[in-house]
Amino acid sequence: MLDSMGNMKRTHHCSELAAKDVGKEVVLMGWVQRRRDHGGVIFVDLRDREGLTQVVFNPEYNKAVHEKAHVIRTEYVLAVRGTVVPRPEGMINPNLKTGEIDVMVSELRVLNQSQTPPFVLEDNTQASEDTRLKHRYLDMRRPHVQKNLMLRHRAATAIRSYLNGLGFVDIETPFLTKSTPEGARDYLVPSRVNPGQFYALPQSPQIFKQLLMLGGFDRYYQIVRCFRDEDLRADRQPEFTQIDVEMSFVTEEDVMGVTEGMITALFQEVLGIELQHPFKRLTFEEATGRFGLDRPDLRFGLELKDISDIVADAEFKAFADVVREGGRVKAINAKGCMDLSRKEIDDLTEFVAIYQAKGLAWIKVRPDAWQSPIAKFFSDQEKELLRRKLDMEPGDLVFFVADQPKVVHEALGHLRNHLGHKLGLVDEDQHDFVWVTEFPLMEYDEDEKRYVATHHPFTAPLEQDVERLTEAPLAVRSRAYDLVLNGTEIGGGSIRNHQCAVQKRVFESLGMDAETYEEKFGFMLEALDFGAPPHGGIALGFDRVVMLMAKESSIRDVIAFPKTQKATCLLTGAPCEAAPDQLEELSLKVRALKK
Ligand code: AMO
Ligand code: AMP
Repeated sequence: MLDSMGNMKRTHHCSELAAKDVGKEVVLMGWVQRRRDHGGVIFVDLRDREGLTQVVFNPEYNKAVHEKAHVIRTEYVLAVRGTVVPRPEGMINPNLKTGEIDVMVSELRVLNQSQTPPFVLEDNTQASEDTRLKHRYLDMRRPHVQKNLMLRHRAATAIRSYLNGLGFVDIETPFLTKSTPEGARDYLVPSRVNPGQFYALPQSPQIFKQLLMLGGFDRYYQIVRCFRDEDLRADRQPEFTQIDVEMSFVTEEDVMGVTEGMITALFQEVLGIELQHPFKRLTFEEATGRFGLDRPDLRFGLELKDISDIVADAEFKAFADVVREGGRVKAINAKGCMDLSRKEIDDLTEFVAIYQAKGLAWIKVRPDAWQSPIAKFFSDQEKELLRRKLDMEPGDLVFFVADQPKVVHEALGHLRNHLGHKLGLVDEDQHDFVWVTEFPLMEYDEDEKRYVATHHPFTAPLEQDVERLTEAPLAVRSRAYDLVLNGTEIGGGSIRNHQCAVQKRVFESLGMDAETYEEKFGFMLEALDFGAPPHGGIALGFDRVVMLMAKESSIRDVIAFPKTQKATCLLTGAPCEAAPDQLEELSLKVRALKK
């Protein structure tokens, strides 16, 4: 219990001792969670990563130690030596793993003192997230944060062990590199020895993992940090972690098979949950057509129904005009929601406006008649067709959006998710996985006025669509797949272009001329020409997977040191200004900024 220097040696952690240990002499170390002075006897809940043990300072047992214990305050760091004793009858705490015993202290060493923490280090703390992040090292003493970080560790271990078992090789790839095309902005790092030149931090290891396949390293994986300068949300951080996988001589089925096996093993090992597999599959067209979004939440119904044909000639111009101009009119039947108030419907109208919907028409199916601002525009026949198509029964409330398909799907897809939660249709214990396949190879970016790759430009087109690359690029489907869990995109991947000629055609359809793609990706094109094997892979958002496993709503809750919505670190104060001599050395000048 003492080493040669006279230091106490820890014998157990704070969640280890039980009735079987009564009589043992032990040494525990940890933090003071709580200290109670009960008429002379002092009780301290001693805490470490594993849990709590109640240690007791009793003047009748050891007067000197009891005297010394008066200095103890919350979060002091203690070493105690003592004897395990059974708790008296009636004092046993069945909710605590060590609740049957106490440690009667015979020696106390205060290893360190502590200021009073700025917030209560308990699970139901009232502290704001900003306060907690500023003192994250205190925040993570709370069992809740500890549990999440331990879960993350166990998840990483399970994944590594699964992939190692299948012969995957963990290989590191550079952080100081050239721009990687995942569609976000790059974080740039100036090069001191090459003035005026910059590295980009990788948005993903995409190019390197493909080069590993070219290098013959079939079956690569890495649990790896990625960097993307994009607008942040609850499930987006500027630096985040991917489970990155690449395989050679494979098709979609192989990559999806390995991923399903990995996820199934992960849930089994870490949560003890037996997942249904194979996972469901939807094409992009089905997913957006029926659920609005390419990351559908399949835990509830409320599917979108296309009523364009029924209203094409209706008197209601807002609908008929849209159909004539090639748009669609779609509806959601919110079963039994007839009693939503005008105010609630107005709020939903504002909600869909976020997604560019020009309005949200509605019909309440009252037992006697339809109540609606638009019902008067429909003939009896149109009404009957609507009733049948939308399964309209008394008590229902139907919502309509008319617009170009992209707007209709976005607006109703988000409305569907919103209603699903609002109406209590979501079973929070369910894990609904679905693969979404056959994404369009590219889409038109209205802001930039050009085609952009939906996934990334190395994704292969579906073979039967290759010939349309030139004349109808937007109609070309890709060999990309996303994995979606409960409405969150947790991963995405694709089969790649392994032939240089096809890769060049894809670059060209994306509006790049030879000079541009040679400059950006010339090294990659050259590599493809040296016997590139067919290959493909996937990357899962590890933070998102752990967030969903932990039933959290933000990935910040499963990251040890996360950044805020404004990409700052409240703990260290990053980012911050650079010293003038640092800038000088890097040949950089900062323009004066308006404060
Ligand atoms: P993609 O860009 O789809 O694919 O990224 C894969 C997964 O990473 C997660 N993710 C994020 N998580 C947290 N914060 C972010 N800012 C963030 N951005 C993405 C998502 C996403 O599904 N190289 C390709 C993969 C491949 O083709 O193999 C790629 O990076 O869960
Ligand atoms: P208005 O005739 O513009 O007053 O619209 C009557 C109703 O139709 C209102 O409830 C609007 O919200 C709705 N509406 C108007 N345009 C659209 C549209 N493009 N899609 C869905 N509903 C619409």
